[in-house]
Amino acid sequence: MLVYARNNPSGIAVCDDLGRVNGTFALESASISVAESVAESAVHAVVAAGSFHTGAARRDDQVRSPSFLDADRHPAIRFESSGAVRGDDGVWTVEGSLTVRGHRAPLRLSIDSLALRDGSLRLSLTLTAHPTAGPTTNPTAHPTAHPALGAATRAVVPAEEEEDLLMSPKIAVIYYSSTGTVHELAESVAEGARKEGAEVRLLRVAELAPEEAIATNEAWAAHMVATEDIPRGDPGRHRVGGRRIFGSPTRFGNVASQLKQFIDTLGGLWAQGKLADKIYSGFTATATAHGGQESTLLALYNSVHHLGGIIVTPGYTDPVKFADGNPYGTSHVNGQGAIPVDDTALAAVYQGKRVAAVTARFKNA
Ligand SMILES: Cc1cc2nc3c(=O)[nH]c(=O)nc-3n(C[C@H](O)[C@H](O)[C@H](O)COP(=O)(O)O)c2cc1C
Repeated sequence: MLVYARNNPSGIAVCDDLGRVNGTFALESASISVAESVAESAVHAVVAAGSFHTGAARRDDQVRSPSFLDADRHPAIRFESSGAVRGDDGVWTVEGSLTVRGHRAPLRLSIDSLALRDGSLRLSLTLTAHPTAGPTTNPTAHPTAHPALGAATRAVVPAEEEEDLLMSPKIAVIYYSSTGTVHELAESVAEGARKEGAEVRLLRVAELAPEEAIATNEAWAAHMVATEDIPRGDPGRHRVGGRRIFGSPTRFGNVASQLKQFIDTLGGLWAQGKLADKIYSGFTATATAHGGQESTLLALYNSVHHLGGIIVTPGYTDPVKFADGNPYGTSHVNGQGAIPVDDTALAAVYQGKRVAAVTARFKNA
């Protein structure tokens, strides 16, 4: 998901010939791609070299001239991040490269503050670049082609964009699984939605069972370890998430308490009407053939009615639905772990595709 920073950065250009020059650059484009893991988030920015402005025309011409930025031949100054790391002091630093006059050199960008306030994402950044110290893409270049740059910028992302950011998973597959059956279905649902071109995020909900209980079941304990890396669905962070496909094993004919707990924490968003008019769907697994698959999905859909959601079920809209035979949502009978997901996975892929295809017909659902 991309957030576009609109503010112009203020810049400080420093070079041997000119001494220290304070001025501003116009930001041509900038994007911050916020990943589930901050370390994988990416920042990209382009400023116009020719836009450098101090208010003193002669000084500006000097900075833009071939002896410094050479703005006519190299109009763009680019920053591209390669990753983010959190220091011992808790401060995030974005590592990346800065290209000035066609020369690329390492650059470090520290995030001074990042906050959601008054419906806007506010962040303050400081960047320091010392291209002369690092390798360049053109070692034969003129020595003055290595200006050192520093800049501080603040970006405020307006509310609609914040919402867009938080809707980042165009489709969120949010599930609970103890022993892996529903997890496998979730992956297939996600695969289907991706095949249909959707941006998908797979999220598991928090485990509520005590460790002692988990430890008594080898398959449960192993699955917990195996899926540690899958991010947790967090209603605070994935607040608006437009399209949700929920997955839960049947628990006495009902939704597992872990997924129900997640749904119950959506009250604040429900009160703001933010969950209405969105697309929802569901899938499940039982141990036995008449163990309550429909009742589980209908119970799940009860909540969706309260949210004012739009339920998209697979019905029998594709021959593959005769594999699992449940029009309410993909369902698998696992025979207490004895029956692999196999054919049901095809129905799950189809459900993901169908939800993505139907979603694409709605502008904001
Ligand atoms: C407390 C509990 C209640 C269950 N209730 C049912 C049930 O009502 N009907 C059924 O067929 N299976 C029931 N099961 C079995 C699971 O729903 C089934 O094994 C499911 O496929 C497990 O999915 P998972 O591997 O994703 O955890 C229950 C299991 C537990 C632990």
